[in-house]
Amino acid sequence: MMSQSQNETLTRVGPGTPLGNLLRRYWYPVAAEVELEKRWTKRVRLLGEDLVLYRDRSGNLGLIAERCPHRGASMAYGIPEENGLRCPYHGWCFDASGQCIDQPNEPADSTFKHRVRISGYRVQKLGGLIFAYLGPEPAPLLPRYDAFAVEPAIRVMGQAVLPVNFLQIMENSLDPVHTEWLHGHYHEFIQQELGRETKVAFSRHHVKIAFDPFAYGIIKRRLLEGQSEDSDDWRVGHPVVFPYILAVGSGGLGTYAFQMRIPIDDTHTWHVWYNAYVPGPGVEIPEKLQKLCVYDVPWQDEHGEFITDYIDGQDIMCWVTQGAIADRTDERLGTTDKGIILFRKMLMEQIQRVEQGLDPLGVIRDPAQNELISLPVERKKHHFSEGFESVTMRFQTRYCPVVRDLIDLFRTVGVK
Ligand code: FES
Ligand SMILES: [Fe+2]
Repeated sequence: MMSQSQNETLTRVGPGTPLGNLLRRYWYPVAAEVELEKRWTKRVRLLGEDLVLYRDRSGNLGLIAERCPHRGASMAYGIPEENGLRCPYHGWCFDASGQCIDQPNEPADSTFKHRVRISGYRVQKLGGLIFAYLGPEPAPLLPRYDAFAVEPAIRVMGQAVLPVNFLQIMENSLDPVHTEWLHGHYHEFIQQELGRETKVAFSRHHVKIAFDPFAYGIIKRRLLEGQSEDSDDWRVGHPVVFPYILAVGSGGLGTYAFQMRIPIDDTHTWHVWYNAYVPGPGVEIPEKLQKLCVYDVPWQDEHGEFITDYIDGQDIMCWVTQGAIADRTDERLGTTDKGIILFRKMLMEQIQRVEQGLDPLGVIRDPAQNELISLPVERKKHHFSEGFESVTMRFQTRYCPVVRDLIDLFRTVGVK
């Protein structure tokens, strides 16, 4: 249980808040590269700030405040220039640093523009994504985690905007036993209601769970009934990469799966499921699968009800029904919630580090450390033991427009 003020400290993400200051020390995806191929701008709301990502006519990217400082029109409707973005209303032009570089209707000798500046943030590309950094300089390196950096790989990305604070989604990742119920027994119940008798690997009982802090966050491990302590689930586990990524393992494939919970503001999160599939040596990746495939993940049906017959939809139902910001003042934590308590403690400690002028956990400044960061994940995950096709169709990947191509490609290399 927490006090109201503790709950606010751990959930407010805006500029100048303790958590907002911590979260600004990390890079976040703001778009897929393909999104800016056919258009010039994309509206971005990140950590409570309204921004515009744009591509100028030289091909450079910029991320600046959405509101024009002249009289407030949206730069999302701006005109791309050789070096910057011009406001549609009266033509003021801003470069990627946010500096005003032209005011076409002011006198030619005016110095006014030199004194007009808006926020302009760093952006960088990796793994088909565009990342942004909103924190103080010097900016740390953009981490080259395996899913972003492994090659050659097929990459797909599902997305949904969820009307909840990011923390309750992250807490779900420190809560291994929910899988046994929500994705196990509840899933079986839903299937039963639909007239399908099923028993799924997820419903296997947890014998014990463990959490180990490491250089990039917390590794979560589980031992399921009937498993030996040599199993990957217990020996290796998988990490929560502090502060907003969950990396999960696979059923023996070259798959890297990230779930990213990107805080839009206090009550909205951009949920991104980012998978990289490495088909193995000698397998040619068809042209169709060479670019990052971006798709929407639906979580409500036409009546506004939750879609609970797939794993991620089940998670979303729980996150959203907890409320926009989960009320932690009347929760009743049990013994299996120790991972959640550890994550909250880690957030508080890292807030303090930032307040002391130190880098928080996982911030990377040494290029030698950043060539390729291989995260520890179970490669033989019990939950995925039912086979690639069956598991893939039970996750949000069932909405991926190239999922059949992926299943077929993996079948050709003997994976079913
Ligand atoms: S409002 Fe942007 S130039 Fe006037
Ligand atoms: Fe889950």
